[in-house]
Amino acid sequence: MRDAGLSLPRNDPRQYDDLAGEWWRPDGAFAMLHWLARARAALVPPAARPGALLVDLGCGAGLLAPHLVGKGYRHVGVDLTRSALIQAADHGVTVVNGDATAVPLADGCADVVAAGELLEHVPDWRAAVAQACRLLRPGGLLVLDTLNDTALSRLVAVRIAERLPTVPRGIHDPRLFVDDRELVAECARHGVDLRVRGVRPAVPGLLRWLLRRARGIGTPPDQVPRIVPTASAAVLYQGHGVRDG
Ligand SMILES: C[S@@+](CC[C@H](N)C(=O)[O-])C[C@H]1O[C@@H](n2cnc3c(N)ncnc32)[C@H](O)[C@@H]1O
Repeated sequence: MRDAGLSLPRNDPRQYDDLAGEWWRPDGAFAMLHWLARARAALVPPAARPGALLVDLGCGAGLLAPHLVGKGYRHVGVDLTRSALIQAADHGVTVVNGDATAVPLADGCADVVAAGELLEHVPDWRAAVAQACRLLRPGGLLVLDTLNDTALSRLVAVRIAERLPTVPRGIHDPRLFVDDRELVAECARHGVDLRVRGVRPAVPGLLRWLLRRARGIGTPPDQVPRIVPTASAAVLYQGHGVRDG
């Protein structure tokens, strides 16, 4: 695997092209995205009506898709990165090559909008939040996870995590991390009452995964680390909230 962080600026979207072969490798550079996708999908209830639409902003290669099976949604993914969208389409996602800050979909079209590990990559995250809320129908659900704008987050998610095989080097620009209180306020401005909670990988599972990976042993899908709630939202947090009206 080429280390994107050595050759491109932090958060340069071309890193996702360099890392295209990693998306669906269970022990690859995007392994933690799989764990987070499962935890995000757990916040999504079964569709309440036939033809319900879930819009997945910054869908990447569609890692959310397997966790939505049986829930009854049409899964539409929006992303800047074509090489990722090709893989998302292979996993049943209807793909739109576009920017999360200017989504070419109609107001109120979505029963659910997901934004997993997206906002911390978008220089104008407020514009992406505005789009997410605009896309939601009244009563629709926003689910997201992102990295908080704290010194602890910069330490854990960049300085430490980028030395582990759980986060590619250079993938984050910590200047873009998203303060949870500002995010809640921004969602409220757009009619979504967002509730946030801190999450993290469960430590025993993470240590087992790191050990197995270091020994070159794959981890069975039912034994990959679980993402669990944690008392503090200072590093990684999930948000979910319903659009009013
Ligand atoms: C960390 S990945 C997360 C992918 C996916 N949500 C997941 O959890 O597996 C971030 C994704 O956001 C996409 N992205 C970054 N900025 C974007 C933007 N402004 N509009 C749309 N997609 C964007 C990248 O191309 C990448 O696929």
